Amino acid sequence: GLTASARRDRSRDVLAGIFARMTSALASDERAVQFPIPAGVHAEKVVSVRHYTDRLFSFRITRPQSFRFRSGEFVMIGLPNAEKPVFRAYSVASPAWDEELEFFSIKVPDGPLTQHLQKIQPGDTVLMRQKSTGTLVLDALTPAKRLFMISTGTGIAPFASLLRDPDTYEKFEQVYLTHTCRDRAELAYGQELVAALKDDPLIGELTEGRVTLYNSTTREESPCMGRITALIGSGKFYSDLGIEPFNPETDRVMICGSMEMLRDVKELVEGLGFVEGSLSAPASFVVERAFVG
Ligand code: A2P
Repeated sequence: GLTASARRDRSRDVLAGIFARMTSALASDERAVQFPIPAGVHAEKVVSVRHYTDRLFSFRITRPQSFRFRSGEFVMIGLPNAEKPVFRAYSVASPAWDEELEFFSIKVPDGPLTQHLQKIQPGDTVLMRQKSTGTLVLDALTPAKRLFMISTGTGIAPFASLLRDPDTYEKFEQVYLTHTCRDRAELAYGQELVAALKDDPLIGELTEGRVTLYNSTTREESPCMGRITALIGSGKFYSDLGIEPFNPETDRVMICGSMEMLRDVKELVEGLGFVEGSLSAPASFVVERAFVG
């Protein structure tokens, strides 16, 4: 058995351990309230988080009463974990009529924001700057018959918003969303989004028979493989869907993904006679870089 002095040492260790845990809990509580919310920034609560893969997750936060945005725009998101928090651009993935705000994010192991953001839990606080902005808006395009949304990775986020906006269907008869990722698991967010459209009480009827999802993967075997640029270039994209090739007379294109993808798709559509549009001069295509890091 233990001697009396060993027993005393042991209980002292146990008490010291409990005390250390209590003080560190207090310290982390203090840390949470230590940093004031910067001026001009909303502090919102995380409502839910969903992890799709070790690289991708989505989260929903409460929406400030006063916050208005155009579908397709982005906001600056941060965490209350520093005097001067790091903010990054995030496309709002939820539609303008939603009570909450949804975002789709990459997880970068050493990303200044996402290394922390990927750990958020319901109830945590997320910071959001008040102004939204962006080029992937319906008003930057002139009306046409078909709208093509070309995305890779988290570049699908602004289209998740636009696909749930009734104005998209006011302006276009048919909507085609392409989403290319490295592997199949990364396609789940978009597949579920499109599958849920028909059951949506607000826009279900409006979207019926008018939305087509085209998926491909580049690093894992799947029914359709290859970069979207190659699939469009070879004509496989058109023949798979049984549709007419891109035509600036009848079509509009929105592009969102990595820098290189934007450059290549932009070059491709410009080669076909599409002209980049903006709010001040609406035209036939628009481009936006997806958030990285
Ligand atoms: P790839 O695997 O051939 O690089 P990421 O997750 O790295 O952002 O990539 C998302 C998807 O975008 C991947 O399938 C990737 O293909 C694809 N991609 C990367 N660069 C381009 C590009 N220049 N044009 C078209 N697709 C691209």
